[in-house]
Amino acid sequence: MKKIRTILIGYGKMGKGLGVKDKGSHFGALKNLKKKFLLLDIIYRKKKGLINSSLKKFHPNLVVICVSSQNHYNVCKQIFESDFKPKVIFLEKPCFQSRFELNEILKLSKKKKIKIIINQTYRFNKNSEKLKKKIKLNNLGKIRKISINYTNGFKNNSVHLIDLVYYLFGQNLNFEIIKSWKNIYTTDTNKKINYNFYMYDKKKKIILEGASFNKSVYEIFDINLFFEKGKISVENFFKSIFIQKINLDKFRNKELGNKKKFFKCIKDNPLINAYNRIYQYVKIGTNIRNFDLETNKKTMQTIFKVEKNA
Ligand SMILES: NC(=O)c1ccc[n+]([C@@H]2O[C@H](COP(=O)([O-])OP(=O)(O)OC[C@H]3O[C@@H](n4cnc5c(N)ncnc54)[C@H](O)[C@@H]3O)[C@@H](O)[C@H]2O)c1
Repeated sequence: MKKIRTILIGYGKMGKGLGVKDKGSHFGALKNLKKKFLLLDIIYRKKKGLINSSLKKFHPNLVVICVSSQNHYNVCKQIFESDFKPKVIFLEKPCFQSRFELNEILKLSKKKKIKIIINQTYRFNKNSEKLKKKIKLNNLGKIRKISINYTNGFKNNSVHLIDLVYYLFGQNLNFEIIKSWKNIYTTDTNKKINYNFYMYDKKKKIILEGASFNKSVYEIFDINLFFEKGKISVENFFKSIFIQKINLDKFRNKELGNKKKFFKCIKDNPLINAYNRIYQYVKIGTNIRNFDLETNKKTMQTIFKVEKNA
């Protein structure tokens, strides 16, 4: 089968990373999958006309965008304005900075028939898939409360955890803001703004709460899922997942049991998984709906609600 003609825009920590051997970077992943992808060009700086001339010269099927988040919109716009359209854009998270940008690009992607896949890493992580299955298997009853703890910028990092909520419990959730406010630290060490928030899905009776923490103390990336009959904790960037069921001993008044049942987390490479999915989509049209911009819309709307109300 023919390789997928690819160009890469943005060549920093996520684009280049540690180079060819770093499969967690786009460059390393594409090189690792060189039987499937043909990397034709790398654009690493902002210069008028550069993107259009690369599209014109190389006719890529796939454009990977991993420029700084603030520039996602203008880079996408340049691709849509070109006469040489790719079939797919693989765009880093957080996809856009505002409702306006999101809606504008959604409209254009439909009109111009370019599929946009978002690199929401945890959707491509095998441990998330496993977690989703475990939730079903363990018969924990309805989800009642979801608590998120994060560092390193609300839009930058909590977007992963909020997106995971929709991945695990479906796109039909509808969280409204009860309160959101800037964290007492206001900005993180790298000036990324943190928020705390409290949201509620009235129909489904689910609380979603989030709290940030100052990165200079240490990094956190946790999510606690409180079900009717137990709790699942995902801790430390998916390094540990455990479940505690309630103690049904009637004298103990439904306390959570002491026993923590750990899931085995596998060492996974979500970026390689993502590229393999994109390959399948381009080559044989496999369904990629769960990873596209339309699906990511709900996650981003939640992010924008928190920001707007703070
Ligand atoms: N999915 C994940 O888990 C994950 C992890 C890290 C970063 N990211 C995302 O990847 C993106 C890049 O992050 P990073 O840490 O690599 O940033 P970075 O600052 O290290 O790199 C960005 C690069 O893009 C280049 N650039 C900026 N604007 C450009 C333009 N208009 N045209 C061409 N090049 C341009 C810059 O020169 C720089 O080299 C961000 O959106 C970030 O949120 C995602």
